[in-house]
Amino acid sequence: MLTFSILKKCKYKASVYKLYKNLSVDVSQSRVRPAAEKLSGDTSYIEILPSWAPNEEADLRTIILHHMHILPNFVSEEEEAALLAEVEPQLKKMRYEYDHWDNAIEGYRETERGKWNNQNEAVLSRVKEMAFAPKAELLPYVHVLDLAAGGHIKPHVDAVRFCGDTIAGLCLASSAVMRLTHEKKPHVALDALLERRCLYIMSGVARYDFSHAVLGGEHSVWRGDRLPRRRRVAIICREQPKAEHRQ
Ligand code: OGA
Ligand code: MN
Repeated sequence: MLTFSILKKCKYKASVYKLYKNLSVDVSQSRVRPAAEKLSGDTSYIEILPSWAPNEEADLRTIILHHMHILPNFVSEEEEAALLAEVEPQLKKMRYEYDHWDNAIEGYRETERGKWNNQNEAVLSRVKEMAFAPKAELLPYVHVLDLAAGGHIKPHVDAVRFCGDTIAGLCLASSAVMRLTHEKKPHVALDALLERRCLYIMSGVARYDFSHAVLGGEHSVWRGDRLPRRRRVAIICREQPKAEHRQ
C-alpha cells in the first residue's frame, strides 16, 4: 500500500520568491521554457481571498498568477473517460482511507502508473509538453489520487525530497477548489477553481512558498456557490527532486 509520504511537510529554506524575482531574466534566457510559461496567467479561475489586501505584496500577486496556472478544458470528455477507464481497475481494488492521524488527506485511495495505453500516453505527453521544460526529468510514475465525495486534502507543501519544481495535475470526474495559503502570512491566500478536465500547473512560489489544500464538504465553495460533493480523480505528473534534495 502506498503511503502519502510525499505530503509530509518539509520546509524549504531559501526564499524561492526572491530567487525567482531576481533570476527571472536569467531563467528566461538560459533555458527553453515550457509552453505554459509563455501564456499569461488566466485569473478567471483564481480568486484572491479578501484577507489579502490589494495593496499588500503586490509583486507576489503578479508572480503567483504566473506560478499557478489553470488551463480549462485541457482534456476532452472522451480523453477523460479513457484516462479514468485505465486507472479504474487498479483503484477499485482499494478502499478509501479515512482517519489516519498522520495523513494529509482524508477519504482517498491512490496508485501510481508508469505505463499507459497509447491514447492516454498521448494525452500525458501533451501535459508534459505544456507544463515542463523539454529537458526536465520527470518522475517515472504518474500519481493517481482518487478523492472520495466526502474527502479533502489538508494544507501541505509537497516535500522537496520527493518532487522538483513543477507539479502538473489533471482534475477529472468533478471540479474542486484548491486553496493556496502563504506559509508565513496565512492571510495571503487565494482559491483556485480546478474545473473538471482542466490542467493545473504549480511551480515557483505556488509550489514552495504557499501550501495547497483541496477543500471538502461545506468549504468547497467557489464565488458563493457550493460545489457538489462528488468523487474526484487527479492525475499528477511531477519533476524529479532536485539533485541536492535526493537521498
Ligand atoms: C498532492 C496534491 C492535489 C490534487 O497529491 O500532493 O496536493 O489535485 N494533490 O489532488
Ligand atoms: Mn500536494
